[in-house]
Amino acid sequence: MQSVSIRPPSRLPLRLRAVAEAVPAAARSVADVGAGDGQLARCLAARGLLVVATERRPASYERLCTALPHFDCRQGEGLEVLRPGEVEGAVLAGLGGHSIARILDASPAVARALDWLVLQPQQHPDQLVAWLEPAGYLVRAMSTAAQGRHSYTVLLVTGHERP
Ligand SMILES: C[S@@+](CC[C@H](N)C(=O)[O-])C[C@H]1O[C@@H](n2cnc3c(N)ncnc32)[C@H](O)[C@@H]1O
Repeated sequence: MQSVSIRPPSRLPLRLRAVAEAVPAAARSVADVGAGDGQLARCLAARGLLVVATERRPASYERLCTALPHFDCRQGEGLEVLRPGEVEGAVLAGLGGHSIARILDASPAVARALDWLVLQPQQHPDQLVAWLEPAGYLVRAMSTAAQGRHSYTVLLVTGHERP
């Protein structure tokens, strides 16, 4: 857990900046699923959020723990490392659209208990958007972030029944 003061990364890439901006201003806790090198997790913690940072494979999990020594880091597949209601929201950034859909589909109890999700599909954003509505999600906001020659879609999503 973050019991020490966390310094934000000095320069968050534009893609991750757009993801961080999509996280609701009043958010208190978040899971960063597939946190990679931990840059986004560090930024969100510096904003005051309680952050659970996850990675799937042992080697990437070890790197994440090294990058985020005072964080709650967990190793495992998608949302399986979380208990329902444990965090308010989740970020899935830099994964493919199909992988994001598979992760949400595989853990319905955890996914349904989330107040919001910020999704940044690296590939197949249109397929992910088409999947979300019939799967019970509403896209509340969509933006694009340009970085280099690439344009990235960032989605703020809630369940249908959320106000
Ligand atoms: C391209 S990186 C993105 C890292 C970071 N989220 C970002 O946006 O910069 C994707 C990360 O997700 C992790 N990942 C892929 N599938 C996953 C899964 N099912 N559960 C947890 N992590 C996963 C990979 O190990 C990798 O570190």
